[in-house]
Amino acid sequence: MLISGQGMSKRIILITGTPCVGKTSVARLLTSKLDALYLNLTELATRENLILGKDKKRDSIIVDENRVKQRINEIVEDCDGKDVIVDGHYAVDVVPETLVTFVFVLRRNPVELRKFMEQGGFSGQKLWENLASEILDVCLIDALNVHGEGKVCELDASGKSLEEVVDDILSILNRNKKCFVGVVDWLGKLEAEGLLDDFLKI
Ligand SMILES: Nc1ncnc2c1ncn2[C@@H]1O[C@H](COP(=O)(O)OP(=O)(O)OP(=O)(O)O)[C@@H](O)[C@H]1O
Ligand SMILES: [Mg+2]
Repeated sequence: MLISGQGMSKRIILITGTPCVGKTSVARLLTSKLDALYLNLTELATRENLILGKDKKRDSIIVDENRVKQRINEIVEDCDGKDVIVDGHYAVDVVPETLVTFVFVLRRNPVELRKFMEQGGFSGQKLWENLASEILDVCLIDALNVHGEGKVCELDASGKSLEEVVDDILSILNRNKKCFVGVVDWLGKLEAEGLLDDFLKI
């Protein structure tokens, strides 16, 4: 019989956001500061072959979300009281809602994000699709569809160092800062700057 609570994690913290926004960099530094367990969803799915197939058009893998969910449940049960940091843009879809302490949605100004994406090797359709996701708040809306507002914290990482972003997260975890959404408005900002047509091409 399972003794309730034993082996369970202290907190489960999700780090989500558009590709290239800075999730892995932030999640890894946070993991070392909290001495937590780090879980990267792409790495997990690839390493354990939790995939349904390949999307050739998008040059990406199709993750078997049910098997990823199962594995996350097992890993969380075995983590010996450590915090768990889950890094991935679909984290809210695979970690059971009731287990999650906070969801941090990283945001980045599309002008800056586009440069990060280009440096990360994105181009063409894939770049514009991912940029449109950031402009249209897709990850934030996904998070809010699963979790209530109090748990979802939107963080604007634009122009901030890694340390600054991680310090913001730690302040929220320590209840020294408030967690809220409604932080950025990329549509309004790009429109005001006359850049919307150059950035929203989907
Ligand atoms: N605060 C920051 N300041 C400057 N550069 C950053 C910052 N955060 C991340 N970067 C850089 O941006 C790039 C993308 O970061 P990272 O790999 O952490 O993003 P990601 O969201 O995990 O991307 P993916 O969705 O592809 O896994 C990396 O080259 C990283 O070094
Ligand atoms: Mg990453």
